[in-house]
Amino acid sequence: MVRRTILTGLIVGICGIMTYVFADEPPPKQEKEKSELAKLMSEIDKSYKAVEEISGYYNYSDNDWKVIAESSANIVKLTKIVISKFSRPDDRKYQDLNKTMMTEAEKMHEIVNHKGEQGALEDAQWQVRRLRQTCAVCHKHLGITIYPQLYPGKKEELKPGQTEIPAPKETSVPKDW
Ligand code: HEC
Repeated sequence: MVRRTILTGLIVGICGIMTYVFADEPPPKQEKEKSELAKLMSEIDKSYKAVEEISGYYNYSDNDWKVIAESSANIVKLTKIVISKFSRPDDRKYQDLNKTMMTEAEKMHEIVNHKGEQGALEDAQWQVRRLRQTCAVCHKHLGITIYPQLYPGKKEELKPGQTEIPAPKETSVPKDW
């Protein structure tokens, strides 16, 4: 009887302590609050990745074209928000590159209207590279290096001797943007 009481007491005691400990625990750690621009960028990134993912295909299905149409429209929409809400009048290059991102996405969207025509696939793939270049140039301009972390293992995917198809015109795009 005595042992039982002690045991019960012990359990009750432990429960009490547990409640106390848990109640006292700080709320689960919140992820560091992202800036609104960073959130928009993450959305742009999702759409960009969607088109990049299929950019190596030899053929686009109707569904692939739909992905391209939706993603490019999305990038246009999001870039417009970036331009209107996060303009940097003192940074000409940043401003220009945002506009470039928008026009390149618009061009990509336009290509979907010609999806049945010869060369449409190549044109769409070209636009992915144009876009990628715009991202890279702006991030480089601002000293942002996110891509090594964003695409872990990406480099290893390239076979030895294989190099990524360079983006057009600008040759100064960093490899590991
Ligand atoms: C005109 C400049 C500019 C262009 C073009 C641009 N970015 Fe960014 N990007 C930024 C800036 C500025 C930040 C940092 C935002 C912050 O942390 O407040 C950023 C951050 C990011 C981030 C990190 C967001 C996070 O979660 O912190 C990703 C991902 C990203 N950009 C993807 C892209 C992709 C993909 C493209 C091209 C389709 C692109 N960016 C084009 C300026 C640009």
